[in-house]
Amino acid sequence: MTITTMKKIMLLMALWSATMLSAQFAPQIINVEARKTTSLNGVWKTTVDPFENGYYDYRWKPMKNGYGADKDITDKTTLYEQNFANERTLIVPGDWNTQRSEFYYYEGTIWYRKRFNFTPTENKRTFLYFGAANYEAIVFVNGKELGKHIGGFTPFNFEVTGLMKKGENSVVVKVDNKRAFEAVPTVNTDWWNYGGITRGVTLIETPATFVRDYYVQLKKGDKNTISGWVQLDGKQLDKSVNVEIPELKIALQLKPDANGYATFECKAKPNYWSPENPKLYTVNIVTDDDVVTDQIGFRTIETQGTKILLNGKETFLRGICIHEEAAFRNGRIFSKEEDITLLEWAKDMGCNFVRLAHYPHNEQMVRQAERLGLLVWSEIPVYWTIQWTNPATYQNAENQLTDMITRDKNRTNVIIWSIANETPQSAERFSFLSRLAAKARSLDPVRLVGAAMEKEEVKPGLMTLKDELSKVTDVLSFNQYVGWYDGLPEKCDRVNWTFSEQKPVIISEFGGCAVFGMHGGTTDRFTEEFQEDLYIRSINMLKRVPGLAGVTPWILKDFRSPRRQMRDIQDDFNRKGVISDKGEKKKSFFIMQKWYEELKKQYNK
Ligand code: GCU
Repeated sequence: MTITTMKKIMLLMALWSATMLSAQFAPQIINVEARKTTSLNGVWKTTVDPFENGYYDYRWKPMKNGYGADKDITDKTTLYEQNFANERTLIVPGDWNTQRSEFYYYEGTIWYRKRFNFTPTENKRTFLYFGAANYEAIVFVNGKELGKHIGGFTPFNFEVTGLMKKGENSVVVKVDNKRAFEAVPTVNTDWWNYGGITRGVTLIETPATFVRDYYVQLKKGDKNTISGWVQLDGKQLDKSVNVEIPELKIALQLKPDANGYATFECKAKPNYWSPENPKLYTVNIVTDDDVVTDQIGFRTIETQGTKILLNGKETFLRGICIHEEAAFRNGRIFSKEEDITLLEWAKDMGCNFVRLAHYPHNEQMVRQAERLGLLVWSEIPVYWTIQWTNPATYQNAENQLTDMITRDKNRTNVIIWSIANETPQSAERFSFLSRLAAKARSLDPVRLVGAAMEKEEVKPGLMTLKDELSKVTDVLSFNQYVGWYDGLPEKCDRVNWTFSEQKPVIISEFGGCAVFGMHGGTTDRFTEEFQEDLYIRSINMLKRVPGLAGVTPWILKDFRSPRRQMRDIQDDFNRKGVISDKGEKKKSFFIMQKWYEELKKQYNK
């Protein structure tokens, strides 16, 4: 047997095991906050386990009674070398790196254990739901291993009906944030790999047959028709389902098919959602014993040549990039209030658009952006040098894309699904990303598909986008750093742009570093004056870009990165923020604010 064949067999086995392990999952339940839930957030006992001692024996074989069994010490004759009862704790949700100083750089496994009293409700089903855990989570309930989730930024849930006991129950989660070449993202990123149960954990109780999923948006290309579908989950899949939008006097009665799936469409004249008018409607999805209520907006999004049309009107995307890192304390965001702080800063700058980089942010970030009138670019972490020929890596990326779209497909402010960031061009990468783009369109035929590609200087002073992926995406979106990584700011003055395709151009990153309060000449790197001058010249250059339809400068706030080690300047932070990690607005913030003020007038909004 040749090496290649062996490698292929090993890869297929890895793919099989990854898929089979995930087979324990229940399909994602959406709009969890609208359901009957019991929060498991708060204080969890934890065991730090850098050598995986709680999962593998000394021969590296998975153990039957590892830490997931959550055994109590009952007699002194039994050998125990770990016991949650006397362990230290961590708060859930939250990354571990910012909760204890000894975890500042920790990458590895930490075991979490929660014991709680619960009384299962008669004739109800129970699910255990995680908003996210970075990066790999193995979940145990009352000592039974349920399965493994891979991916640090998307929700997952298990059905635990019949596993929950009346009285005290135990949930144990093994979270491992070690990076890996075959992972998504891979080993190298320009952001800190915050580990932990980073988003909320809840028990959901549902009727035996319940409304698990639904899609309610305007029909593609028809602003006077609301269309969508409902998916029931359970045994009685033929029960009728009502879709009600009271304010629009819509009340539809649907008959699901044998799989519990029902589609619908109806004429409607909604008050369209827009950044200036973020109108949301109460939508009820009702069966005889389940009601799920959501707040949903309606808008059209399409491109026309180099224009982006929102509700049929040409719109310029006045954006900013945002990492999901809290203002001031700089850990992974875990609260709605922290989402709002960053989004309010974006609004203050005059934004109508945010690029939520480089991974799906928490659900509230998207919902609060929707409420505040901010359009969203949402992205999966297919970032830099992914393993393009590894089937398990592709499946992982597709799972994360599917989970992102499943969760946020009813958020009308999401207009772009981004499938990649700065990925090196090759035939394998093109095939991988083309498949992802097709998958995104199959899940959601309405929204645009984008990717942050990279510009090319075809000859001195002439820039373009030369990437075959631009044939697949709906927009010509790319990162450019003329004046920071490519020359000094004066280079912006002598650069022009040309594109072979007639699609809207979005500059998905530009900018440079500045330490807040550090001053000097405009060519002194890391001074506010340098960054300010770079922004001034960049904007003048961008005004010459043909077909420019939007920009998202990199980045709203300085953020933690293991690649930024210049002592006393970076101190483990990427300093490209227009706001410092302490919430201090740099000179560049006001340059952007002024330009966005002009653009509002130019596009009279
Ligand atoms: C890249 C990348 C970002 C990174 C930025 C930088 O374009 O997409 O994730 O932080 O440049 O170098 O600061």
